[in-house]
Amino acid sequence: MAYINANYLNLKDSYLFSEINRKVREEAAKNPEKKIIRMGIGDVTLPLVPEVVSAMHKAVDEMASAETFRGYGPEQGYEFLREDISKYYAAFGVEVAPGEIFISDGTKSDIANITDIFSDDNTIIVPDPVYPVYVDTNIMCGRKIVYVAGTAENNFLPMPSADLKGDIIYLCSPNNPTGAVYSKEQLEIWVEFALANQAIILFDAAYEAYIHDASLPRSIYQIAGARKCAIEFCSLSKTAGFTGTRCGYTIVPEELVMQEVSLNKLWNRRQSTKFNGTAYVIQKAAQAIYTPEGQKQVHEQVEYYMQNARIIADTLKEKGISFVGGDNSPYIWLKCPNGMKSWEFFDHLLVNLGIVGTPGAGFGENGEGYFRLTAFGNRENTIEAMQRIKDLL
Ligand code: MLT
Repeated sequence: MAYINANYLNLKDSYLFSEINRKVREEAAKNPEKKIIRMGIGDVTLPLVPEVVSAMHKAVDEMASAETFRGYGPEQGYEFLREDISKYYAAFGVEVAPGEIFISDGTKSDIANITDIFSDDNTIIVPDPVYPVYVDTNIMCGRKIVYVAGTAENNFLPMPSADLKGDIIYLCSPNNPTGAVYSKEQLEIWVEFALANQAIILFDAAYEAYIHDASLPRSIYQIAGARKCAIEFCSLSKTAGFTGTRCGYTIVPEELVMQEVSLNKLWNRRQSTKFNGTAYVIQKAAQAIYTPEGQKQVHEQVEYYMQNARIIADTLKEKGISFVGGDNSPYIWLKCPNGMKSWEFFDHLLVNLGIVGTPGAGFGENGEGYFRLTAFGNRENTIEAMQRIKDLL
């Protein structure tokens, strides 16, 4: 007799963004004429930059000729991309060796798969509100989860308290969903906590490209001691529009050792067994963002989205709606007006204004009464959505 993983039965019925899509489909079916503007899931709208497209075309041509065709690549990623990412970090003073970088098809997979190399006896520390994948993937393993509250009082940047106990800590900065960004001093406290408790930090840096304030850390490895206690995840989805193209990477420093076992070796063992590498064409496309021209082009895209964030922020200020985020992050986290609950506000915006956002409650208990808007839409739609808010909300 086959037994299922009964931990799955402890999950909510559906993944947050699937639930939102279902509601939007229903509304669209009811009102086919209505123009619905999507500011829910953080999905980019600008096309891939020319430098990336040209590299991708060249790589496709290579695959079309017997002399340059490539079959299986290294499971860890091609050296050319690992080296360029290492140089990218060096440019802001962080040393990461190519052998510590593992290329993947994005942060979501890696942050879920990393659970493989840790025991299910670990207690997990997760901020609330938080990207639901951290929670769901640990529920799937049946692990104990402890929440640290992100509230308006701590600017949605929870810190460890004296009685906090746990073994694996998830941090995301700039934060999804709140857009809040940890300072260097705050991350130093988390690193001290991890070192003192022999805990591991899983640091999600997927939105690092949106940090404009040079005093804010873009990588956990800007903090002394982090190489001994942290794994970093990053993605090209939001940096370079790769949400549909799929490429990301995970950094596991050589110094990271638990019970005398190197986590770099353990992750390498996991990846070489369960993963056959990211497609060559995609890795060549990814490499193109690290050329000077590629960097210029992707920075322009980030700037475009940040301008959307400013448009959203200005509208909310005008309406007297309080919010955080949007200055070093593409997410704006607002307090639902008139004491509305998150899903109530979601329905109100969808039905009456034709705008889709993400209910804060979907990110955890502390998200109740809050709402997330993304700046990843196109300019025209962002302006139109804000006009609807000005006129109708
Ligand atoms: C989000 O909207 O939170 C993200 O786009 C989801 C993701 O990156 O998987």
